[in-house]
Amino acid sequence: MRLDHIAYRVKNRQATVDFIVKNFGYSVGAEFKISFDNGTQANCFALVPPEKDSIRQPPWLLSGQGRNRPPSTAGSTFHLPPEIFVSDGETNSIVGNWVKERGGIGGVHHVAYQVDDIDSVFNEWKDGGVEFLSENIIDCPDDNLRQIFTKPLELMGGVIVELITRGDKGFCEHSVKELMESTDKSEVEKDDEVNHPNTLNWLYGGNNS
Ligand SMILES: [Fe+2]
Repeated sequence: MRLDHIAYRVKNRQATVDFIVKNFGYSVGAEFKISFDNGTQANCFALVPPEKDSIRQPPWLLSGQGRNRPPSTAGSTFHLPPEIFVSDGETNSIVGNWVKERGGIGGVHHVAYQVDDIDSVFNEWKDGGVEFLSENIIDCPDDNLRQIFTKPLELMGGVIVELITRGDKGFCEHSVKELMESTDKSEVEKDDEVNHPNTLNWLYGGNNS
């Protein structure tokens, strides 16, 4: 299991991206918009780390014996740093509402862990009591990319964890849309307000009155 990416939902995506590029050396891998059925949008950047290497055998480990490795790392393996995903959204959109509920600043929405066998981890976590925002793993239509969100984990400070198995093409807009829709507060609350009203208010930023 490897930390694959961190996803921030923010007030001003461009300002956040400029900050990350300047101070962390990341570069923009992709920029795209997700359009929802109610006419709102989410504006997204996928940022790649400066250390990203095209040689991935196995996918997330770099060998110190590979080409372009400095001598000091010979014989060792290490994890690639995570990608960063940044989004913002207009008023009354999924992302816009989420940011508004956090003082208009936003925060870390989810952290994604890459796994070898997403089905077995999904089932193992479910058996262990972890709840997910979708009933089934979300498959990208034209890639082997597979992802799913847990519900906000109280034990992890209310942060969502994503399980991901990578395909060959990076982010998949179809899957991003489905994942974002699975986090729609109103839909989640409909499912859970009877069983966990106070916990959900706390996690999603509502009040308890
Ligand atoms: Fe993600």
